[in-house]
Amino acid sequence: MTDLSRRSFLSTVTGAGLMAAAPKSWAAAAPSASGDWRLGVANAPAEGYAPSALTRLHGQMPKGLSGTLYRNGPGWFRYGDDVTGHWFDGDGMIQKYDLTASGVRHTGRFVDTVKHRVEQKRQAIVMPGFGTKGRADAPVTSNDDVNAANTSVLRVGDELWALWEGGSPYRMDAQTLLTRGPKTFRDDLKGMAFLAHPKVEPSGRIWSAGFMGAKAWIWQLSPNGEMEQGAIIDLPAAGYAHDWVVSEHYLILPMQPWVAKTRTPPFVDSLVWEADQPIRVLVVDKTDFSKRRLFELPSATYFHTGDAWEDSDGTIRFDVCLAKSPQFGATGARELVKGIYKGDEHTEAHLALITLRPNGKAEMELTKASAEFPQTDHRVQGLRHDLVAHVGGYLKDRPGAHMLSTYNWRTGKSDTHDFGHDAIVEEALFVPRPATAGGTGKEADGWFVGTVLNLKARATELHVFDAGNLKDGPVASWRSQHATPLGFHGTFAQP
Ligand SMILES: [Fe+2]
Repeated sequence: MTDLSRRSFLSTVTGAGLMAAAPKSWAAAAPSASGDWRLGVANAPAEGYAPSALTRLHGQMPKGLSGTLYRNGPGWFRYGDDVTGHWFDGDGMIQKYDLTASGVRHTGRFVDTVKHRVEQKRQAIVMPGFGTKGRADAPVTSNDDVNAANTSVLRVGDELWALWEGGSPYRMDAQTLLTRGPKTFRDDLKGMAFLAHPKVEPSGRIWSAGFMGAKAWIWQLSPNGEMEQGAIIDLPAAGYAHDWVVSEHYLILPMQPWVAKTRTPPFVDSLVWEADQPIRVLVVDKTDFSKRRLFELPSATYFHTGDAWEDSDGTIRFDVCLAKSPQFGATGARELVKGIYKGDEHTEAHLALITLRPNGKAEMELTKASAEFPQTDHRVQGLRHDLVAHVGGYLKDRPGAHMLSTYNWRTGKSDTHDFGHDAIVEEALFVPRPATAGGTGKEADGWFVGTVLNLKARATELHVFDAGNLKDGPVASWRSQHATPLGFHGTFAQP
């Protein structure tokens, strides 16, 4: 098992023997007219961010909104001119925003990973990763030695798990953000891959997967994070999978035609884009992993799914953000950390609804909504939802979205707030209005809470929207003292 758990990732990352190519000068790259977007991929302070209050820009904290927004993302990229090979390989840093009636306080801390320790000590990019070759003398003995813990977070009891996708969750104290170490579910599963996009059922049960070439390990965990069961399943191909969906009865694994074909390190270079091949969607019964169906969809690439549900006749539907080519992940995100952005219309993803019929047919309904980082009301995870929130709107001269939107599948209507070209909009999370504040429990009765990097103000902001009305802008906003590096995903913990 240990050998299997290591096989896919290490086979490509530890084949490394070359130093990263010399980067172009960070200082020579020109910022865009919209402001210096490179703030989003600059190193954070090594010591993290000390607790500080955000400055209120307008509005008041809505009655009933309190708790903590945790966000994870790469926060360290370079030692002088020695630059990590890919945006996805920056060291994980947790941003913590505490929301109370009196305002918002922020603190931030790096996940104390083996990778971060080794590289801080040597003041060099050493370890291999998703798009980084690493050095010949990189001390790598397991997946977790190269685990960047930089992609998302999951709150489990008093712990915060910093998630990657090629190794273990990294356990942290949810209050102090002190790192406790990799989570081992069972001795023989040490270092096994665990997705950055686990799915939590309304019951609290947690599902995750670890992809290993043309196989996946399925994790079924209790609400307190202990292992209930796990098993290996065969996949139709070794397609790169960053996200998946889980409905009431099924695990749904869309395998895109971006397929690991070679052992060429780093990992991303092992992937071949097969534009003439379909997306193959594997549907597995939660109660019997041997019961499986396969659907085919037209070729497309994706990073993120939203959520899935089942109709009464057994039809399965889920939302996903689809693009025409994986150019951004393959090369664009490598250039970002060098301060270069070229843009590519084929990399812009659009919101789509996938329908899997009981008769084996699959349909793809592509909307015109520019969309990434889809988010739904987590209380109905795996159940019918109408509303999906997403960022969108991309410019030619800088990376990142400038709009926050919702799309309603029932009405086909979008609701959008445009922050303007000085803003890079990050993932917004739905926070339900509690019953004590008049919450009805209906889908999307609550707020979207998210962060924005304001390039003009050179500061990160936190905005709160009424979930049913984005177009009128945030109901309350605060600004940090810091421009924190752009993150990927977060979670909101309500008291
Ligand atoms: Fe993601």
